Amino acid sequence: MAADGASQVAILRDVASLRAQVAQWRAQGETIALTPTMGALHAGHVALLLEAKRCARRSVMSIFVNPTQFAPTEDFENYPRSLEADAAKFAAAGGDALFAPSVEEMYGEGFATKIVVGGPAEAGLEDRFRPTHFSGVATVVAKLLNQCRPDVAIFGEKDYQQLKVVTRMARDLDIDVAILGAPTIREPDGLALSSRNIYLSAQERAAAPNLHAALARCAFDINSGISIDAALAAAKASIAAVGFEADYVEARDAQTLAPIARREDGPMRLLAAARLGKTRLIDNIAV
Ligand code: PAF
Repeated sequence: MAADGASQVAILRDVASLRAQVAQWRAQGETIALTPTMGALHAGHVALLLEAKRCARRSVMSIFVNPTQFAPTEDFENYPRSLEADAAKFAAAGGDALFAPSVEEMYGEGFATKIVVGGPAEAGLEDRFRPTHFSGVATVVAKLLNQCRPDVAIFGEKDYQQLKVVTRMARDLDIDVAILGAPTIREPDGLALSSRNIYLSAQERAAAPNLHAALARCAFDINSGISIDAALAAAKASIAAVGFEADYVEARDAQTLAPIARREDGPMRLLAAARLGKTRLIDNIAV
């Protein structure tokens, strides 16, 4: 097994080591939960890990900054990477094994396959602004699920569209795993935890919680009988007033992500993406 001595937890660097570890646990009759991440762990990831530990005897977390889900203009090169600190956090939270493969391990020479995703991946939300993103996510998640073969895989509701895309993909490809969503963890002022929050300047950080506040107000308005269109317009205006440039603020069916026009039409999710300076924040809440 390839393991780093620096931390107290095994860091598996290749698929063979991961499979050997999982096989050993399986031989003992143990269940396994996988939490896929891109690292730069914060309390939101730790909450995912704790959920994984509730669901299965053994918990594997993958840390892989996946190049295929970044567009050339995005922050792949600069995405925060902190494996040693991540390993310490993972060990402190009681995780069992970290899987941290290299790009070469995941996408070997001649790699030529990608998953084409539809349904929730074409909802006109993130996909409108990041057209190749979900194909990259689905491809790497399918690989991770095949490599680890967990009983359960945990994804944050923070990336709500991603959760729906991955759930659809696992079902459509008959991957034998339960996909579970875990609630978004927030700062005390409401800002959803994200590895990209470190990009915010002090001034932007002060304005950032307004995104969640606007969604919360919007949900309240809709539940109070205000029309969805009017509530969304007020949300857009309130974030614009503090410097956000919105990509979208939308009300969608919570399951299918189809547009929804009336509160009575079913469980609803409000989803937003907006830029503050160079940083793009996403958030969503149930109505
Ligand atoms: O949500 C993320 O961190 C990534 O999109 C994921 C699911 C780990 C795939 O690279």
